[in-house]
Amino acid sequence: MIREVAKVVSNNECTSDVYELKLLVPGIAKDAKVGQFVNVYCKNQVNLLPRPISISEINGDELVLLCRAVGVGTNEFRDLKENDEIVIMGPVGHGFTICNEQRIALVGGGIGIAPLVELAKLLPKESTSVYLGIGKKEEVGFIKEELFRKECMGVKVATMDGTYGTKGTVMDILGDEIFDMIYACGPLPMLKALKKYVDKNNIKAEFSLEERMGCGGLGTCLSCVCKIKVGDSEKWEYKKVCSYGPVVDAKEVLFDE
Ligand SMILES: Cc1cc2nc3c(=O)[nH]c(=O)nc-3n(C[C@H](O)[C@H](O)[C@H](O)COP(=O)(O)OP(=O)(O)OC[C@H]3O[C@@H](n4cnc5c(N)ncnc54)[C@H](O)[C@@H]3O)c2cc1C
Ligand code: FES
Repeated sequence: MIREVAKVVSNNECTSDVYELKLLVPGIAKDAKVGQFVNVYCKNQVNLLPRPISISEINGDELVLLCRAVGVGTNEFRDLKENDEIVIMGPVGHGFTICNEQRIALVGGGIGIAPLVELAKLLPKESTSVYLGIGKKEEVGFIKEELFRKECMGVKVATMDGTYGTKGTVMDILGDEIFDMIYACGPLPMLKALKKYVDKNNIKAEFSLEERMGCGGLGTCLSCVCKIKVGDSEKWEYKKVCSYGPVVDAKEVLFDE
């Protein structure tokens, strides 16, 4: 993990609150693996803590980040212009493992779709189906549907209000289909529902957890902990998502009801 000054290649609005930030950052890009994240530092020194953002794509010396503006940091990054410089640290954490299964699903909810984009490029096209859940049609602007269609076998989209694709959640479009492997990232209710589904059907799965992080992966604040099962026993222990994850084996992770 290194700190590096990244140069902004482009920063494009995808929807009213989501933008795609392309950064020239050769040192970090060289070591970046699918599913890892970077810590992005604010210029405004009032916000000392870096903001963790998933690596959405790794294109040579460039990293692509998909960011939703929700607060001070992510609103500051929205204003970055071409050739601006910004400090980032990374790559951080453990990413996805690439499998060779026959029936693979990528399941993304909201901005959790971001880390699945690079993953789609690395999995066997003929085995991989994509299931994306968003709130409304406007959000189609950031889900990279065309790229997923090019890289995978099929793409299904669900919107909560029914304005695009199927009305409902991503669980509704998964239906009763059975997979050998599921990769997922998205809001907690989605991951909880998916955890029940993979446990019930004994499906292998990896979840990328986007817990809140205080120290951005320095390992000092413990704000990011999640419950991880100890072996096959009933016991569990807290693990830091910033170092143990963000990608975890779905069988190991325990969510509170
Ligand atoms: C491993 C990881 C990967 C992430 N990847 C992405 C990504 O690819 N794209 C993206 O847009 N965001 C991603 N996030 C979430 C992102 O880090 C937060 O939205 C960001 O730190 C908020 O900073 P802020 O200064 O804009 O908001 P703040 O002003 O700090 O907070 C604004 C609001 O956002 C809430 N918030 C802060 N962190 C989170 C979080 N982790 N989850 C949900 N709500 C939060 C706060 O409670 C508050 O209500 C990721 C988080 C983690 C831990
Ligand atoms: S974010 Fe501080 S210990 Fe994980």
